[in-house]
Amino acid sequence: MMFESAPLSPHLGVRISNLDVTKPLSDETFAALRKAWLDANGVLVLSNQTLTPPQQIAFSRRFGPMKHRDTHRAFEGVEHPEVVVVSNKVVDGKRLGRISGVFWHSDSSYDVAPVSATLLYGLEVPPAGGDTMFANQYLAYDTLSPRMKTMLCELKSVNDYYNPATYKNRQQVERPSVHPPVTHPIVRRHPETSRDALYITRGFTSHIVGLPADEATAILEFLFTHSTQPEFIYRHHWQRGDLVVWDNRCLQHYAVNDYDGIYTRCMHRTSVQGDVPVGPGEMSRASQAVAA
Ligand code: OGA
Ligand code: MN
Repeated sequence: MMFESAPLSPHLGVRISNLDVTKPLSDETFAALRKAWLDANGVLVLSNQTLTPPQQIAFSRRFGPMKHRDTHRAFEGVEHPEVVVVSNKVVDGKRLGRISGVFWHSDSSYDVAPVSATLLYGLEVPPAGGDTMFANQYLAYDTLSPRMKTMLCELKSVNDYYNPATYKNRQQVERPSVHPPVTHPIVRRHPETSRDALYITRGFTSHIVGLPADEATAILEFLFTHSTQPEFIYRHHWQRGDLVVWDNRCLQHYAVNDYDGIYTRCMHRTSVQGDVPVGPGEMSRASQAVAA
C-alpha cells in the first residue's frame, strides 16, 4: 500500500498518516493522493511532516503552478515569495505574520482566477483552540431545492476583497486600485470532478449581479447560513506537523481565532494558481457552441 488513509468526517476530509512528502513521490503515488483529496471533497491532512519552505514549495508544485504572495502583504517572514506566514507571533516587537480568514471564505475568490489548492503547514500550534473549519460546498449545492438550483445557476455574484461586511475598518480609507471587485458564477462547476458547488462566501461576496440590493441580501443571507450549517463541516484540530491541503473550488473555510493573546500559532501557507470559475450554464453553452 502506498499510504494509509482514514476519513475525518462523514462528508469531507481524509487523513494520510504514513507518507513523508519530502521523499520523492512517484507519479502513481501522487495521482493516488490527488484522487484521495478529490474523493474526500477537498480536505487532505498529511500528518507528521517536517518541512522547510523549499520542501513545502516543491510538494505544493505537484498540485499546479505556485501563486506568489500578493504585493499588498506587509509581513514577509520568510524569503520565499511563494510562502505566506500565517501567525500571531511577535518577535522583537514585530509581528511575524498575520492571522487570516477569521470569517467564512474561499481563498482569493476576490481574484479573477482564484487559487485552487491552499497548503497550510502547522509549525507551532496551540495546545487548544486555533482550529480551522471547512464546509463542503458540493453538499451545500446538492441539498438545495431543484427550483433554487435552477435560479442560482443563472446568477453571478460580486466578490470583493474590500467587502464592507468583512472589512468595515477598511471603508474609512481610500480604496486602493489593487483588488477591484470581480464577478463569479454562484454555482461553480469543479474543473476536475465536474461536480457543481456553491461558490459564495460571507467574507467576500457582496452583491448579486442584476438583482436589487434587498433581494440579493435576502438570498445571500439564506445561502451563507445554509452553506455553513454544522452538518456540512469538518473542524480540524491542528497537531504540530500537520500539512492540510484544501480545495477552494468546493469548500469554504474559517480560521477560528479563539487563541490570540493566550497561545501562539505559526503556519506556513502556499497556494496553487487556479482557473477562472465557470458555472454549469456557461459550460453547456460553451459545449453547445462547439457542437454547433
Ligand atoms: C488562510 C486561512 C486558516 C487558518 O491562510 O487562508 O484561512 O486556520 N487560514 O489559519
Ligand atoms: Mn483562507
